[in-house]
Amino acid sequence: MKTKPVRLGVNIDHVATLRQVRGTSYPTPFDAAQLCERAGAHGITVHLREDRRHIQDADVYALKRGLSIPLNLEMACASEILAIALDVRPQEVCLVPERREELTTEGGLDVRGQQETVFRVVQQLLDAGIVVSLFVEADPGQLDLCAASGAQYVELHTGHFCDLEGTAATTELRKLIEGAEYAHKLGLKVNAGHGIHLGNVQAILKIPHLDTLNIGHSIVARAVMVGMQAAVQEMLDAIQGAST
Ligand code: PXP
Repeated sequence: MKTKPVRLGVNIDHVATLRQVRGTSYPTPFDAAQLCERAGAHGITVHLREDRRHIQDADVYALKRGLSIPLNLEMACASEILAIALDVRPQEVCLVPERREELTTEGGLDVRGQQETVFRVVQQLLDAGIVVSLFVEADPGQLDLCAASGAQYVELHTGHFCDLEGTAATTELRKLIEGAEYAHKLGLKVNAGHGIHLGNVQAILKIPHLDTLNIGHSIVARAVMVGMQAAVQEMLDAIQGAST
């Protein structure tokens, strides 16, 4: 039997990071998303953080308006962000934990620790016709609660695996494989993300039942490298064209 190809969701938060660090109007996540779409990406992911450190509200509205591939909005269970999600109505929302001081999302959502809030937010999103995913560790107890919440997807947190080496990495990968099998048995669809790059993606693809991999930082970093020569060439052409 032929297995379904794994889909790629590109997280473009760090295109917005480049814009925000200089307060410029460029580069825009929307332009980047169009290039991702042209390259064959299956979806676009952005994280609207409460501190608005990269993606801004207007980016989310522009992406929802202009993209023809699905928009996956990552967000914390915060009422202000929930109101925006319910107004924008992205195709999908992924609920994630959020700490102001963190550099990036550090761990999975603790559904057990905030069950009432998570279940309420999931229901509000489902009622609005939005597909819901929960970003969690591959822990059977958490996965049971994800299924009970009514969310259709889980996104397994691959960040720890991506930071490990040797037998510790093998153990973590086994946990992800077993978690994906368990989630599938519970009727959940399985995504995965965090820390994935060209050097570890083949190992990640050993996780069964994968629907979508959400990958951000490494793709934006790689885009700088594969685009640098063309960008320098463009500027040289502009300078030299003007001086001849
Ligand atoms: N999935 C989730 C839930 C995330 O929070 C992030 C980071 O924003 C990613 C995937 C992408 O991670 P990375 O930027 O390391 O590829």
